[in-house]
Amino acid sequence: MKAIGVLTSGGDSPGMNAAIRAVVRYGVKNGLRVFGIERGYCGLIDGAIKEMNFASVAGIMEKGGTILRSSRCGEFLTKEGREKAAKNLAMLGIEGLVVIGGEGSLTGSVVFHKEFGVPVVGIPGTIDNDIAYTDMCIGVDTCLNTVVDAIQKLKDTATSHERAFIVEVMGRESGYIALMSAIATGSEAAIIPEVPVNLDQLAARLLEERKRGKLNCIIVVAEGAAKAEDVARKISAKIGYETRISLLGHIQRGGSPTAFDRLLATRMGVRAVQALLDGEKCVTTVLSAGKIEVMDTEKILSTKKQLDLSLYEISMILS
Ligand code: F6P
Repeated sequence: MKAIGVLTSGGDSPGMNAAIRAVVRYGVKNGLRVFGIERGYCGLIDGAIKEMNFASVAGIMEKGGTILRSSRCGEFLTKEGREKAAKNLAMLGIEGLVVIGGEGSLTGSVVFHKEFGVPVVGIPGTIDNDIAYTDMCIGVDTCLNTVVDAIQKLKDTATSHERAFIVEVMGRESGYIALMSAIATGSEAAIIPEVPVNLDQLAARLLEERKRGKLNCIIVVAEGAAKAEDVARKISAKIGYETRISLLGHIQRGGSPTAFDRLLATRMGVRAVQALLDGEKCVTTVLSAGKIEVMDTEKILSTKKQLDLSLYEISMILS
């Protein structure tokens, strides 16, 4: 193998730049030409591809977002789009790809590999932490720290005004961010897609806590479970004290990556290039029991990542 490409696709996540840096530098050190593909699969189709070197990834480790930019590329869902992408790769002599992204991006990598035989190694980069077989995806730790910081600030004002706050966080299918941030902030409850919520019981508990003298109340809601507005309306009618909502939105995807995310991204970037050099065809890097390994991407995608619901129990016991 003489040349590889790297792209970031789907929702960005902090640490993607550290992964790009590792792919480029480890690739170059191993005698490969490394091409950066802009705007995910869209750049592959449009030919927005440029050669990178040691210097082009200098100083990017600490930056949020992705210097290659990202997209959710509709055209790559079509055969014609993927054909254009394959032609562009062949024209530049690119023989292998590293795809950094979430579930949709990894699914695209499998389809592309099957159709055109191009070896593709995925790196799980998504704040949702919804990729099976990997303990963590790139960006999750930074996102959680952002959410925890925001909730701590909301707690200050919630206490001053003796209010309840309903905080909506990302996670369409997964309650990971909501549950983990609720535990890490000692919030009263996490409302997540995985567990049905009984608002009557929750309201009764909140009233009990208020009687005991608790001045604030924080409920974290995953966007896929309910709308903060609806929860606030229903809960405030039951508990009878002032309730406000806060939607954290896309700030959860930004910011300088934590040390954990930089290290995870670096280790996964190196492992991804090594996998291509080793002749792997369609695998994804995973963090498993502290080690970075590769696993068949289709196997990963065919398994739904389960949230550890014992942590849900713990959140209920401790709040
Ligand atoms: O997939 C990551 C994610 O951040 C989800 O948690 C969220 O629902 C979605 O992306 C938001 O996507 P967009 O940036 O397209 O609004």
